[in-house]
Amino acid sequence: MLSLFSVTTPSCSKQLSFDVLLETAIEAGRQAGAILQNYVRSGFRIEHKDRINLVTDADHAAEQCVIDRIRKQFPRHRFLAEERGRVERSPSPYLWVIDPLDGTTNFAHGYPAYCVSIGLEYEGRCVLGVVFDPSRNELFTATHGGGAYLNGQPIRVSSTSSLENSLLVTGFAYDIREAARNNLDHFVKFALKAQGLRRTGSAALDLCYVAAGRFDGFWEVSLNPWDMAAGSVMVREAGGQLTNFLGNDLSIYGQELVASNGHIHQAMLAVLNEGSSPMTT
Ligand code: IPD
Ligand code: CA
Ligand code: CA
Repeated sequence: MLSLFSVTTPSCSKQLSFDVLLETAIEAGRQAGAILQNYVRSGFRIEHKDRINLVTDADHAAEQCVIDRIRKQFPRHRFLAEERGRVERSPSPYLWVIDPLDGTTNFAHGYPAYCVSIGLEYEGRCVLGVVFDPSRNELFTATHGGGAYLNGQPIRVSSTSSLENSLLVTGFAYDIREAARNNLDHFVKFALKAQGLRRTGSAALDLCYVAAGRFDGFWEVSLNPWDMAAGSVMVREAGGQLTNFLGNDLSIYGQELVASNGHIHQAMLAVLNEGSSPMTT
């Protein structure tokens, strides 16, 4: 099931196969997930990054766990992790992009929709994703060219071909009260065009659910790289499409994202660009 496709690391002239990278990321994700569940049982401290943006002991502990586990195996690799930013001890083409707890607001309220998200960039391209949902014991994995899996079973995007029949999902950034682009306009439009619309509170899981055909499309206006890195590999490998609002290739550093089964992608872009100047693709 694992792809044996190998990539070369020029800096250390050593080949790393996806199996060892994936195995390490899976172990890190599962260990961090267990830490989150321990905090659910024992309780945790909540701090405010700002008015509505929370961080807990669990976020920090899970992040430490993921970085320690990966670094044990790959001491030269670089990291971009939500709570501590960039960690770069030496130059390396490998960059792990980590959200130790995606869905912190859900977690803090005891709403079981959160996950550990671990993506890997090789020379600036997302090539591997592991997302672990410890509440449902669901492990999503994907590697470049190797397909996407849920608990070891291959997953594909849905075949829904119209917005009318689509279940869509979105999210809102923590600056929703201040930002002019707060996504409420798009939310209203899609609510009137789709079969159903959800806001789950975990962007990484939203992407995995598009990959698994549970959602037909997902968009958001202000995401961070760690929200998108792992899930974007999942959607691509499950046969889906990923762009920005103009229809250009997704950059995980570009904030806005549209992910879909491909069939409804143009229709989603049309709604997102309603009222603005013609799209440049
Ligand atoms: C948030 C979640 C949410 C999305 C926000 C993210 P966090 O991440 O992914 O679904 O709407 O934009 O910031 O703070 O829970 O890691
Ligand atoms: Ca996040
Ligand atoms: Ca987070």
